[in-house]
Amino acid sequence: MAVRNIIKMGNPVLAACAAPIDSSTISELVGLLPDMVETMRAAGGVGLAAPQIGRSLRAIIFEVPEARATNAPGDEPRDLQALINPEIEPLDEATELGWEGCLSIPGLRGEVPRFMRIRYRGLDGEGNRIEREASGFHARVVQHEVDHLDGILYPERMLDMRRLGFVDEMLTSAIPAPIDDPEPTDDT
Ligand code: NI
Repeated sequence: MAVRNIIKMGNPVLAACAAPIDSSTISELVGLLPDMVETMRAAGGVGLAAPQIGRSLRAIIFEVPEARATNAPGDEPRDLQALINPEIEPLDEATELGWEGCLSIPGLRGEVPRFMRIRYRGLDGEGNRIEREASGFHARVVQHEVDHLDGILYPERMLDMRRLGFVDEMLTSAIPAPIDDPEPTDDT
């Protein structure tokens, strides 16, 4: 296991569509997934996609920390989960705004609309088929990470760019903070 360098916005790998994991790349996961976990932990994040460490493959990891889970159905705390070749479908059209950060855009937070309820499918790190309904933060982190696999960073999803800023400034500004939650979203 090793902590890898997290690439940042501007690197073309983050704008590329990542390749599905197939028989020619599956053996690489043995090294890649543990490195992703170690890198995410070292950075203090709650999600990471393989392209963020420079490997353009469809693999993500994420967790739902107790502090973030709303405990609504589909948004219970969840231990670290790897998802290979994930697919998402929204369960309905409802969206909600929420603050997000990204380890590839350090220091910034932005308010991003996401589907409130989704179903996702994929394989876990052992090759078991996963199919799950998710809501709230759980749904948000999965949508954020799967976007990385399609070359999309969260500012591209934003509806109001005035709701993008440096978290330090938002929290220390004398004017009322646009962020009501002092720890809005751990970077993913
Ligand atoms: Ni991210």
